[in-house]
Amino acid sequence: MERSLVLLKPDCVQRRLMGEIITRFENKGLNIIGMKMLQVTPDMAKQHYAEHVEKPFYPGLEAFITGGPIVALCVEGIDVVQVVRDMLGATNGRNAAPGTVRGDYSASRQMNLVHASDGPEAAEREMNLYFDPAELCPNEPTLTPWLKAADE
Ligand code: PPS
Repeated sequence: MERSLVLLKPDCVQRRLMGEIITRFENKGLNIIGMKMLQVTPDMAKQHYAEHVEKPFYPGLEAFITGGPIVALCVEGIDVVQVVRDMLGATNGRNAAPGTVRGDYSASRQMNLVHASDGPEAAEREMNLYFDPAELCPNEPTLTPWLKAADE
């Protein structure tokens, strides 16, 4: 079982798409074990996007991600990091395949609605940035036997 940090970014909140996107994760059979709304601070943004801080687009990215409330989710499932990345599609909404979140709802590279960890180590680091361990509610859904085989 793996965990991924997902952010519904300010454009997602402002466009009233939170429910649509959370529904996709639920319909996929992923388990949401943490969720909260918050305002990202410039300091958090610099930690989150540490590898991009020196890039020319960073000031715009920081202004965007701190520009309104976001919703942080901790999502759990088998291979969930890759599963969620595949559900979101390419970073640039204009290149994202139809059927993916960005392919269906975004036509922008920056305003691409949702962030998801790009690997298990990033997931661990990002999870610690957005959640205290006590804020997570790990649970075994009663539906599990209908979502995957016992040996998966
Ligand atoms: S990804 O999906 O994380 O692999 O994408 P990556 O190319 O590494 O980009 C990381 C985040 O930076 C944003 N980004 C940009 N914003 C504005 N302008 C430009 N040119 C640009 N290039 C990348 C991109 O939306 C990614 O945000 P997240 O939150 O990771 O999806």
